[in-house]
Amino acid sequence: MQLNESVVRWNTEPKATRNIWIRMKQHRWSILAFICGVILTLVLVVPGMVAKSSFPEKNDQAGYIFSLRFDRKSTHSLLFLSDDNTVLANSFTKETPNPVKHPEQFNNYVGTIGDRYFTSTSKLYFEIKFSYEILKYLNSTDLVFEVGVASREKIDSHHYVGTHGWSFFIHNCTTNICLRAQHGTTNTYEEVKIISSSSTVGTVTTGRLGFFVNMNRNEFSVIDKDSSKILYTLKKVVSADQLCLAFGVYNHRYLETKLEIMYSYDFTNLPIINVVA
Ligand SMILES: *[C@@H]1O[C@H](CO)[C@@H](O)[C@H](O)[C@H]1NC(C)=O
Ligand SMILES: *[C@@H]1O[C@H](CO)[C@@H](O)[C@H](O)[C@H]1NC(C)=O
Repeated sequence: MQLNESVVRWNTEPKATRNIWIRMKQHRWSILAFICGVILTLVLVVPGMVAKSSFPEKNDQAGYIFSLRFDRKSTHSLLFLSDDNTVLANSFTKETPNPVKHPEQFNNYVGTIGDRYFTSTSKLYFEIKFSYEILKYLNSTDLVFEVGVASREKIDSHHYVGTHGWSFFIHNCTTNICLRAQHGTTNTYEEVKIISSSSTVGTVTTGRLGFFVNMNRNEFSVIDKDSSKILYTLKKVVSADQLCLAFGVYNHRYLETKLEIMYSYDFTNLPIINVVA
């Protein structure tokens, strides 16, 4: 973009110049702008291109699509699913008409797991579209939703995974509603992003977040869909037990919340380092 603009500006300069020095003086600001444009282009665009080249092209990505779904039989009895198990909500809606009654469902974890477990080489990317409406006052310990990674054995020990697993969750950070990263055993508790600047009752928010689990590097990252930037990476994602994805949707008395898995890619067989999604 900047490159194009600069080139156009350069070409509109008159070609036949009687006195190049006078011209240069007259156009010193354009020339300066051009030089700045070139420098900015080199500084901003080139590293971006280098980073992108290590990620598959849009067309190539099609080959890596896999269908990640919420696991119906694990889903807590307070939650509802869509027919195709891609939407999880804490209330009955047209889109989520299915309450879950199953002998293996979670009793403590107010959520479910993904239908794909991790191996030591898994590299999975998926995008979540969320929406919530705040119906009543939320204190700072009331959770909105969580996307986490946890041991399959430990997951039902608690209502969320932040204390024993690796969690990105949304809650009331007093002056705003924010996304936070938590890993209990390393005392990680970091504010990652403001999700809505209004934290009052009646707030309705929708958004998208990308998540990347790279078991090769033992990392779990959250990616901002607006800027395609990695917002935060939880490291040392290691466990002796089977690890899985955890999705929690909380406080149905205070919130109407919905999570939808938009798409997912399995890059396990690809030697990528960076994700620009
Ligand atoms: C979030 O917490 C602050 C401080 O306790 C409170 O003033 C605000 O009303 C809360 N927001 C909601 C939506 O409950
Ligand atoms: C927040 O509200 C919950 C009920 O939703 C309550 O159990 C908890 O004690 C409250 N926490 C604080 C810090 O007030």
